[in-house]
Parts: sequence; structure tokens; C-alpha cells
Amino acid sequence: MTRQPFFYDITLRDGNQSLKKPWNLKEKELIFSKLLNLGVQAVEAGFPAASEMDFEATKRLAEIAPQNLVISGLARAVEHDISIAVDAIKPCVKPRLHTFIAMSPFNMKYVLNKNPQDVRKTAIEAVSFAKNLILKTGRKDGEVQFSVEHFGDCQENLDYVIETLKDVVNAGANVINLPNTVERTRVKTFVDMVEKVYESLPKDIMIAVHCHNDLGMATAATVESYFAGATQLECCLNGLGERAGNTNLYEVAVVLHNSGVDVPLNLGEIYETALVVSDMSKVEIPEKAPLIGPEALAHRSGIHQDGAVKTKDMEKGAYRPIHPTLIGRKDDEKIGFTSQSGKTAVFEIISDAGYPITIQEAVRITPIVKEAAQKAGELPTRNIIDIYFNEVFNIKGDFRLVAFEKLAENFFNLKFFHKNEFFDMNAQGNGPMDACLSALKQAGFPQKLVDYEQYALDGEIFGSGAVAMTVIHFQDLDGNIILARGKDESTIKANVKAIFNGLNLMHK
Ligand code: KIV
Ligand code: ZN
Repeated sequence: MTRQPFFYDITLRDGNQSLKKPWNLKEKELIFSKLLNLGVQAVEAGFPAASEMDFEATKRLAEIAPQNLVISGLARAVEHDISIAVDAIKPCVKPRLHTFIAMSPFNMKYVLNKNPQDVRKTAIEAVSFAKNLILKTGRKDGEVQFSVEHFGDCQENLDYVIETLKDVVNAGANVINLPNTVERTRVKTFVDMVEKVYESLPKDIMIAVHCHNDLGMATAATVESYFAGATQLECCLNGLGERAGNTNLYEVAVVLHNSGVDVPLNLGEIYETALVVSDMSKVEIPEKAPLIGPEALAHRSGIHQDGAVKTKDMEKGAYRPIHPTLIGRKDDEKIGFTSQSGKTAVFEIISDAGYPITIQEAVRITPIVKEAAQKAGELPTRNIIDIYFNEVFNIKGDFRLVAFEKLAENFFNLKFFHKNEFFDMNAQGNGPMDACLSALKQAGFPQKLVDYEQYALDGEIFGSGAVAMTVIHFQDLDGNIILARGKDESTIKANVKAIFNGLNLMHK
């Protein structure tokens, strides 16, 4: 599809009117700067007749708006509100007067107390009055937008609505907005109605949708309306807005992007914007909020963790809708260990914390970590690291090292227990490792050392001074290779500890 969506932001109007403390001019200016960074095409700056503060704020934003940005002011379909709103928006290059009236049978009867003919007349008169005022501003890009409030409730009288809209267009409306003022039923029902209006009106009239999120489907309704002909998508940052809010701009933008639509926004600004808006609105981002919630990148089941880790460096992830950097999110996918998690999580958590671990070691310690998580719930990384230390560097078994000492050059003494039997062996060797193995051999425990490596470890990570770590590979009688580690401030002791950990692993 080549038609570009037109993002009309309503955070400063619908979002603002729902706040416990609506924003003042300075606060609106700050949110406005975020909207400019995002690159929205239009901003509904306020409801100027609602308060002096909203008038001043709308006017100020109209004054500082860039030339290519539409600044809109909302007005009921009454001359007084329309005149005030036009005064507020006229400083900008592209002023848009937005007027509305309800047309659902229920609202006309019980709220407006008007018959449909009178509502039609009011709508036509309001639009024509607004158009005249906009023309008088001399702004050649000035426009009038008309909204059918409660359009989503107009199933029974859709023909009446369409006929009225034709008249409203003839009276000068450039944009027809179809709000789902209260989301009550299926997305498809609403979208079919949008499509019918789109088919019935001249093609140079821009169709807009404005969906509230009462049943949690505003994003779906907005996105599907776009594919049914609506070009202008009215959205709020962080999904703010009356009651359960309006369509969340981030979700719509990302769905369209993922669907191959050319989205004219700087998607990389989304995450930072979300944090600022949450702070300024005092409306917390729910943990599970799609895309921006702290939990939106968390994986706890073993299967998901495995898929997430295998695809973490790829643009498409096994268990995420986008790469987080698309929306400017810098935090990585989070692996949390619970009783539902597995070896991949242990491996990732330990590696991420900066400790050396192999997948075999992760497999070995996973049941122990799992048991702890069964009791405690999600385990803090510190607890997993403690288990890792215990299980990797201090392997319990039949062999227990008591002491290893240098007696002379290449001559060492090894004291150890095997089960309850105590051994006190002197042995010569080409270095401590060789001497230790030779002492074990004399004691009746010959080992096949395949290779060994020594590392200096980051003392800070290990919580002490410089630390040496030895990694050895033994081969058991069946030809299996066993990896064991030893760590100590002394390299010699690290070697011997690695050997004893290896012995215990082989004889488990
Ligand atoms: O929800 C709604 O119907 C509105 C209109 C004023 C567009 O906010
Ligand atoms: Zn609304």
C-alpha cells in the first residue's frame, strides 16, 4: 500500500483532558517538543474554549509550530467555541478547526435531546461557520475537521450519518473523523462502518479514526481502519485519553511498520518519549504494556528463553515483535529464572554477570537453581551466582583436599581424604600440577589430564583481589571429557582445587 498514514496526535487534548492534573503551558510545550521529535503530522493542541489555560497553550503551540505541522483546536458545534478555537490556532501555517457533534440514536435522544434533523442542521451550520472563519485567517492551508461523536454506535442509522456527512463536506469540511467514542463491540463491525463511509464520500476527503480503548482493541480498530480507507489515525502517546484511553500511537506505528507500511515517524524516539510522558502525566507504564513495559522484553519459560537467546542478535527475534532498538529501547531482552526456566537461563545469567560457565556446567547446576526457584519464585542473579560458586568451584564428593604444600623445588606434599581414608603423600613433579597428579597416582587414583589452562580473573567481579582460575579437562575411563575449575588467590592452589573438583565430578 502506497498511501502514507497521517498521524494526528491527541495527547495534548484527549490525553490532557483525562489527566488528574491537566498540563499547563510549559508542560504542554515539553510534550509538544517530543511530538516534534517523533515527527507526527498533526497535533490537536487543546480545547481552547475549555479554559483560559488551554486557550493560551493552544495559541502558544500554534505560534511555535513548524510550517509543515497541522495545529488543531477542538470546539463543540457552537459558534462561541469555534470562534475561540480559531483565534487560538490562527498563528500557525496550517490551522485546523475541529468541531463535532454526536449522531448515535442513543446520544441524540438522551444526551443532546435533539432530533436527527436538528443535529444535521447544527453540524452543517457549525462547519460552514468554521470554514468562513478559517478562510478569514488567510491561511491557504487552513482546514475544517468534523467528527461524528459516537460514530461506533451508529450501526442502525449509518445511512443517516453518511447523508449528513455528505452535507457537511459540501459545507466545507476537509477531514471527516469517525470516533469509536466508547468501544463496545467487535472491531470488524466498526471497521466495516468506516469502510462504508470511505466508499461513500469523495476521495479528496481525508477519513480519520479516533478509537477509545474501553475493551482493549483500539490499536486493532485503528490499524484495520487504515487498511479500510482511513488515512488519518488519531492516537495518544502512552495510550492516554478518557477512561481506558485512546489508541496508543506506538502500537499503531509499529504494527504498520511491521506490515510493510511506510510510517512517517521517527520510531527510534518512541521509548524515550514514553518515559517522559509517563513522568509528566503521572500515569505509570504498566509492567506488561506492549513494546514499552518493563516486562515486554522478559522471558521466563525455558522454551522462550532458549528461542530468545538463539535469536538475540538477529533483527527478528523468536519471541519479540521487533528488535527493541527500533523504538530506541536500549535494554536487552531479560532472562528471569523461575521454576519454569532452564539451562539456557542459567548460562545466560551467569555469563551476563561476567562469570565463566560452560553449557555443561549450566546443565549440571540447573536442577539446583530450579529447586531454589520453586521455593522463592524468580531468583535474584546474586542467588544464582552463589549456587554457581558452590556447585562449580566447590564440588562435594568422595575426595576432600586438606593441604598442598611446596617442600622444595619441584617437590610437594599433598594431604587429602578419600571417603574416610586419610592420605599424606610426598611427590616430585614437573611443577605443582604434575606433582599433585603424581601423588594421586601413588595413592591409587591415576588421572588422565587432557589439558589445562590458567586465567587471571577480574578480582572485582569475584569480590576479592586478583584471582587465579584453572580450568582442567580430565578424561574418564569411558573416554568422556570432564571440565573442572578451581579458583584461588594462589595459582598453585587454584590448580589443585581444579584437580579435586574434577575428581569429585568423575566419581559422583
Ligand atoms: O472520543 C471522541 O469522540 C472525541 C471527539 C471529540 C473526537 O474525543
Ligand atoms: Zn476521544
